[in-house]
Amino acid sequence: MKILGLSCGTKNGNNDTMCRVALEAAKEMGAEIEFIHVFDWDIKYCSGCVACSRALVMGKGMVCSQKDDYAALFDKMAEADGVLIVDPIYESGGSGLFHVLCDRMGPGHDMGMLMMADGMLKEQGKGGLDPKYLKKKAISFVGIGGSDWAVRVETDHAMLAMSPAWTVIDNEFFSWCKDVIMQDDKIERMRQIGKNLVEAAKDIENAKWLGKPGSCPHCQGNNFYIYPGTTKCVCELCGLEGTLEVVDGAFKFKFDPADEPKAHDTLSGKKMHGEDIFENEGRLMNLFKDPEFKKRKEHYTAVCEATPSPSKG
Ligand SMILES: Cc1cc2nc3c(=O)[nH]c(=O)nc-3n(C[C@H](O)[C@H](O)[C@H](O)COP(=O)(O)O)c2cc1C
Repeated sequence: MKILGLSCGTKNGNNDTMCRVALEAAKEMGAEIEFIHVFDWDIKYCSGCVACSRALVMGKGMVCSQKDDYAALFDKMAEADGVLIVDPIYESGGSGLFHVLCDRMGPGHDMGMLMMADGMLKEQGKGGLDPKYLKKKAISFVGIGGSDWAVRVETDHAMLAMSPAWTVIDNEFFSWCKDVIMQDDKIERMRQIGKNLVEAAKDIENAKWLGKPGSCPHCQGNNFYIYPGTTKCVCELCGLEGTLEVVDGAFKFKFDPADEPKAHDTLSGKKMHGEDIFENEGRLMNLFKDPEFKKRKEHYTAVCEATPSPSKG
């Protein structure tokens, strides 16, 4: 039983410390623990080259054009039974570093795509992907803020679990927390989050959400895009469409249960999304040979040159 804690905060700052608080509680329960201060690792931006999704779709396995520590970091996550990510709240959401982790997790680690690639590799007699990449996993998130601007952070954080389809156990955020290690209720909550993760990882088949019920009954999300002038909305996390209606004095998110298989965190939803992407990528490939497409591309490219970076040259 191994619990891996990642912190995206400053070195030995609040996020590192609170991550260690949860890890200490996990260790007391008998778990092996490991801590990574993510800024210590060389993690580059996603360049947007889509080599990862192309390689998976073509049955070539897991590929990334960025040469850095991300593959090793993902291996650490894949090998752990439970992952905890503690992240400073920036601009009411996840930090820039966290968003980089999210992008790098992106399509190249999507469980639907991994399962498809695994099947193709086996068909080619190549033995499939390492089973650790297909393992179910428990993950929890904690956002720590210096003020009370925080309402986007839960959705940002849970988004990281969406791609690999890992089960979110707790998704917490703490406000007004510059002095968090002196706030005993937060320390206690952090310890509980560590313990919950160990229990969930021990029985991963039955692991489930242990936080407060969210406004979206499907994914526990609390953020919605509301189409202006309507009651129609979309859950920003799982993508289910429905309406927000007041029932017994509270907003209730109602959706057609027949739409649930389309949710982004279900394998059926991932399959539908994958097929749509495949179709769109195919159309783009054909357009590269289209004279009108080439003409437009040349025209707009000639409008202006990009200014070079002053430091990169
Ligand atoms: C760029 C930046 C943006 C921030 N935005 C927010 C914010 O929107 N809400 C908030 O509560 N705290 C915000 N903070 C405060 C950080 O959350 C706080 O400094 C951090 O949790 C400290 O963690 P550390 O000690 O681990 O580095 C911001 C800090 C920085 C540097």
